[in-house]
Order: sequence, then structure tokens, then C-alpha cells
Amino acid sequence: MTSRFDTFPPRRGLSVKWDAYDADVLPLWVADMDFPAPEPVTEAMKARAASGQFGYEMDAPALREVIAARMASRYALPTQPDDVLLQPGLVFSLNVVTRTYGAPGSPVLIPTPVYQHFIYAAANFQRPAIEVELPSTLRDGWLYYELDFDALEAAVTPETSVFLLCNPHNPVGRTFTRAELERIAEFCLRHNLLLCSDEIHADLLHPEGAHISIASLGPEIAARTITLVAPSKAFNVPGLQVAAALISNRELREQFIQSSHHLGVHASSVGFPGALAAYTQCEGWLAEVLAYLTGNRNALLAFVRANWPGVQITKPEATYLAYLDFRGVDLPASPYDFFLKQARVALSDGPSYGKGGEGRVRLNYGTSRAVLMEALERMDVALKRAGAAG
Ligand SMILES: Cc1ncc(COP(=O)(O)O)c(C=O)c1O
Repeated sequence: MTSRFDTFPPRRGLSVKWDAYDADVLPLWVADMDFPAPEPVTEAMKARAASGQFGYEMDAPALREVIAARMASRYALPTQPDDVLLQPGLVFSLNVVTRTYGAPGSPVLIPTPVYQHFIYAAANFQRPAIEVELPSTLRDGWLYYELDFDALEAAVTPETSVFLLCNPHNPVGRTFTRAELERIAEFCLRHNLLLCSDEIHADLLHPEGAHISIASLGPEIAARTITLVAPSKAFNVPGLQVAAALISNRELREQFIQSSHHLGVHASSVGFPGALAAYTQCEGWLAEVLAYLTGNRNALLAFVRANWPGVQITKPEATYLAYLDFRGVDLPASPYDFFLKQARVALSDGPSYGKGGEGRVRLNYGTSRAVLMEALERMDVALKRAGAAG
């Protein structure tokens, strides 16, 4: 069966993913998809461009209302439009969090491996990052990562003030269960930690995934949680620079506003109509792209299982990102360097995600099936040539 996602227009000159490496490299790294944005987004952006209005806008009440209603109906997170602070992106918001909350220099607890900007956000404000490695086991033969609560208890100090959670998780692809999230909430309450929950991948679920927004567990945890969301991943529009920090606690919200307002960085008003269209007119597109991504994921897993017995891989419950462990095969270099040089495939280097990254890479399967399979074939040839398929 053919799909509209089987092909995509050239992206060179328009995307860092395709521009950062030489022309012969297949890029399966930075987390965007190769598909064009949904049609309603493009139409909304055309209308915005035609208006000729590019002045300061700063706020978009209709968009805040849509985000609040969507969080309530889709994720059972009671959200008022006033709780929604429009943001230029989640990386900015993560930095506002580490800039704003907790005593200066107080540690930030970060389960790793994780999206690297969590670690940078702590470092940017001279906050020690306490990295607590997520242990993995094999479930049905697939790598499965869980939080290590004993290690978290051992690592937290009385000075620790912030917990950075990634759910759904980049790069290990988990959607944390209610039981896991209840333990995180209990942990944060007991240790008096502010919780920042990055939920940018929430809408990108495979059939096995279920997203629970941690602040929906109850008013106590909601009162100390900052939830970060955006249309960027699910609808493939990170360039619009529109995201949101959801903060129901008035005091925390005021602190966030005070801390970020004078930086002069704001959500892109030009992107507002695109974000609104994504959230209101693109559910059909989302269902289609998710089905395609699940097909890609399954093709990737089948390929790894059939050809690389020494390699472990996650079975992502969400995201279009798989995490592969090459420590069981004898490579002459790190897997990132090896595949870039020997296969001309660009992956994301495991150690960039903090503790738990050595010998591992992240692979972005948000592309056409043909590009994915060509990359895997190239990697396979390189492994066999090195006598290292495992
Ligand atoms: C977990 C996570 N948070 C944040 C971001 C980036 O967010 P933004 O582009 O809104 O700054 C990414 C992008 O890959 C991500 O995976």
C-alpha cells in the first residue's frame, strides 16, 4: 500500500538535518520528520503571510484556549487559558526553569540518558546536574528502560530543588505508566522538588503507548509541576517556534513570567496561526502519520532482529526515535563515528545524552520507509565489512 509519506520534497537548504552533513550522508539524527507539515498548517501560514502583519503580537488568547481545552479533554489535565504561557520553544522553557526555581547553585535531578538540553539547562545556570542512570532490561527481547527509584533516593540531597522529567521519553521511547508517575510524584513531594515535565512527544504514540500527563495525577503534584508542550513534534512544525509552559500554581507562574519577561524572547507570533491549525484541524493527518511511523518502527525492529543478533534496540512506545546499544558487537570506533564514516549514515551520538550513552546511538525513523531501509542496508554492509554484525 502506498502512502503520502513514501516520498518527500528535497529538504536540503531548508533543514539542519539535511544540511549539517555532506550530500552523500543519510541523516537520521535531529528530531524532526522529513514530511511536509499538514496542509491546514501551510494554508494558515500562507494566510498569515498574505496579511502583511508582522508586528508585535505577543499573545494569542485563542491559541491559549485551544491548548487549555486540549490538555483537559485529551490528557485530563485541568488547565485554564491563564495557566498557559506561550513560549518560543521547550529548550527556552527548560532554561527558564533552571534559571528560576530553587536556590542558586542547588542541584537538578536528571534521569539519563535524556535529551541533552536538560543537562545543558542545568549547566547554563551553574546548577550541578545529578544524573541518575535509567537501568534497562530486555522485554520480549527489546531494550526496556525504567526509572531506578533506589538510585534516585540515594542521589537526591537536601539541597536538590528541581526534577526534570521527560515523558514520553527521548531517547528511550517510554511512556511512563501511572504507577511509575505516581512514584515520581510521591518522590517529588517528599523531597520538596519542583517538577518540570517535558511532554513535547505526548501526541506521538505508537499503539503500545499511553500518555499520562503527570500533573493530572492530583492537585498536590499539579501545584509543583510545570508542564511543557508544543505542536512541534507531532505536527512537525518546530520551526514555527510556538510552545507552551502550563503552570496552574499562580506563584510559580508569576516567578516564571518575572524571570523570562525581560529576556525579550517570546513565542513567534507569525507561528501562532500554524500552531492553532495544527491543534484544531490536523487530527486526521496525525493518525495517518502515526500509522506510518509505527510501520517504520516495526520494519526497523524486524531488520535489527533478523540481521544484528548482537545489537539491542528499544521498541519505542512513543516518539519516532529508537535507541540502539552496540556494546555487544566489536566496533572499531563509537557507533556514531563508525556509521558516519563507514555507512554514511548520521545518527545521534549516545554520550550526548549523559550517563548511559556509551556505545549507543539514537536513530530517527521519522522519514520515508525507503530512506530508512537504505540507511539500514548501508549500516548492515558496514557492519558485515567490519566483521561486526554480532
Ligand atoms: C524532549 C525534547 N524536549 C525539547 C525538544 C526541543 O524543543 P524546542 O524545539 O521546542 O526547543 C526536543 C527536540 O528534540 C525534545 O526531544
